[in-house]
Amino acid sequence: MAEPAMIASVAVDIDIVWRRVSTDPSLAEVLDDRERERAARRGNPARYTTAHALLRTAVAEQVGGTPQAVVFERTCATCGSHRHGKPTVAGHPELSVSLSYAGGLAVVALSRGGEVGVDVEVVDDSDFEGFNAVTLDPSEAPALDRLGPDRLGVARALVWARKEAVLKASGHGLAVDPRQVVVSGPEEPAALLQWKGDVALSTGVQLADVPLTEPGHVAAVALLSDQPAQVRLVSA
Ligand SMILES: CC(C)(COP(=O)(O)OP(=O)(O)OC[C@H]1O[C@@H](n2cnc3c(N)ncnc32)[C@H](O)[C@@H]1OP(=O)(O)O)[C@@H](O)C(=O)NCCC(=O)NCCS
Repeated sequence: MAEPAMIASVAVDIDIVWRRVSTDPSLAEVLDDRERERAARRGNPARYTTAHALLRTAVAEQVGGTPQAVVFERTCATCGSHRHGKPTVAGHPELSVSLSYAGGLAVVALSRGGEVGVDVEVVDDSDFEGFNAVTLDPSEAPALDRLGPDRLGVARALVWARKEAVLKASGHGLAVDPRQVVVSGPEEPAALLQWKGDVALSTGVQLADVPLTEPGHVAAVALLSDQPAQVRLVSA
C-alpha cells in the first residue's frame, strides 16, 4: 500500500529593511522626478525621501541593477486605478514589496512568497480617546481595556500596525474598515483572527510583529500565504 503523501511546511522569507530618517542630500539622487516632486510637497521631505530611497535600494539589491533603474507601478485593489495603490516592481511579478514611514523611521518589506504588507507606527499617534470606536471589533476591546495607562499606548499602536499590515498586504489599505480586520490581543503572538471584509482573501494570512529597537515606534508585517513566514530583519 502506498505511503500517505507528506507535505512539508516550508517557511517563506520576509525581508525587512529599516533605517532612521536622514537629511543626507545624496538620498534624493536615487529618486525619480515624480518622487522628488512629491517629496518637495511633503511637510517632512526627508522622511519621504529616506523611505523611497530605502525602497529603491532594497529592491535593487534583490533584482540587480541600480536603485535609480527600478520602475514601480501601482494598482488600486479597490478601483483598479494605476495612479495610486500598492506599489509593484515592473518586470518582477514574483517579488512583493511594501513601504511604510512614520516618525523617525522608514521600513520596507520584501517577499517572494506572497503579497506582503508592512506598517510602522509612532506610539503616541495611536494613543487617543476614541481609539476603540474607530479601530476595534467589539471582540478585540477587552484585551486592551484591561491594560493600565503605562502599557496602553504601545498596545494600541501594535494592534493598529497589525491591522494596517494586513490591509497593505491585501492592497485595500483603509478602503476596508480596520474594524473588519480582527487581530490577536497586544499581549498575544500576532495573528489575524478574522477577516470580515466583503471580498474574501484568496489565501491565509501570516502576521508578525517587527522587533524594531527604535523607542516610540512599533511595526508589524503581514504575508498573504498559507505557508508559515520567517522574518529576517536587516538594518540599512
Ligand atoms: C495604504 C495606507 C493605509 C497607508 O497609510 P499611511 O499609514 O499613511 O502610510 P504608510 O507610510 O504606512 O504607507 C504609505 C505607502 O503605502 C503604499 N500604499 C499606498 N496605497 C497602498 C495600498 N492600497 N496597499 C498597500 N500599500 C499601499 C505606498 O507605497 C505608500 O507610500 P507613498 O504614498 O509614499 O508611495 C493609506 O494610504 C490608504 O489607505 N490608502 C488607500 C486608500 C484607498 O485605496 N482608497 C480608495 C481609493 S479608490
